[in-house]
Amino acid sequence: MKLAECFDLSGKTAVVTGAAGLLGRQHCRALAEAGARVVATDLDPVACAEVAEELGTGALGFAADVTDPDSLRALAGEVLRRTGRLDILVNNAAINDRVENPATAMELSRFENYPLALWKRCLEVNVTGVFLCSQILGAEMARVGRGSIINVGSTYGVVAPDQSLYRDPEGRQRFYKSAVYPTAKGAVLAFTRFLAAYWGPAGVRVNALSPGGVENHQEEYFIAEYARRTPLKRMAAPSDFMGALIFLASDASAYVTGANLLVDGGFTVV
Ligand SMILES: NC(=O)c1ccc[n+]([C@@H]2O[C@H](COP(=O)([O-])OP(=O)(O)OC[C@H]3O[C@@H](n4cnc5c(N)ncnc54)[C@H](O)[C@@H]3O)[C@@H](O)[C@H]2O)c1
Repeated sequence: MKLAECFDLSGKTAVVTGAAGLLGRQHCRALAEAGARVVATDLDPVACAEVAEELGTGALGFAADVTDPDSLRALAGEVLRRTGRLDILVNNAAINDRVENPATAMELSRFENYPLALWKRCLEVNVTGVFLCSQILGAEMARVGRGSIINVGSTYGVVAPDQSLYRDPEGRQRFYKSAVYPTAKGAVLAFTRFLAAYWGPAGVRVNALSPGGVENHQEEYFIAEYARRTPLKRMAAPSDFMGALIFLASDASAYVTGANLLVDGGFTVV
């Protein structure tokens, strides 16, 4: 096989969860550019349709909730009915700590006060969601004996959050990064290893792609401090992940399974 052919996804179907989000949209674009027929799935049907329309030829949008097995079964049925196959699954949907009210964020996000309901919800979406999508959509891959599952992790699945990043220039802690997001992303990495070992003999590869922090209208001091402590001296751009994504999705990584590909500008090496 020629090198360029290794990266070619022509004729393959790729499902991306959380497709309407910041990185999901970019993952969809990269997969489509590499030739895949993309199925964009997220909670809102209008947003899914919009992403599919932006991608153009052959792309589909279909709403599903990654925590709801029935909606995932409907998604799997639709993917197979419309495209006849399922080769790539990108488990990208997740929730992050949501600091709704800056006035209470610091106290609420403090570990000692962190609400059980937020802890449970994050685990449900970020961990159970990855389990359910892999079980329900991945089953088709195991049945036919080929496929690539990419679970989106985070640097915080590997290293603890540095809480000083969330301090403003006056030294005030604006909020704390909670325990649940790193816990969930750590679980995603353990699950990736589990499934890689379990489905390796069935021909399904399972890897993690762990992004570093993406610049997205954060406060200036945060962007500057994040860049200062990152060896490549900047936050990520959404397009920084496309090379790694296509590598893991394609035959270019045919002998790679159970890996965690960190795309973080070196954030986790220091
Ligand atoms: N943005 C970053 O800095 C960053 C850094 C490291 C890792 N990540 C990871 O990258 C992935 C994408 O992050 P993002 O920044 O694009 O987030 P985002 O919030 O922009 O997008 C996440 C998408 O997931 C969807 N979603 C949430 N709950 C869902 C559910 N129950 N069912 C289906 N869809 C659901 C949301 O509607 C949203 O469109 C996540 O796994 C995130 O943890 C992001």
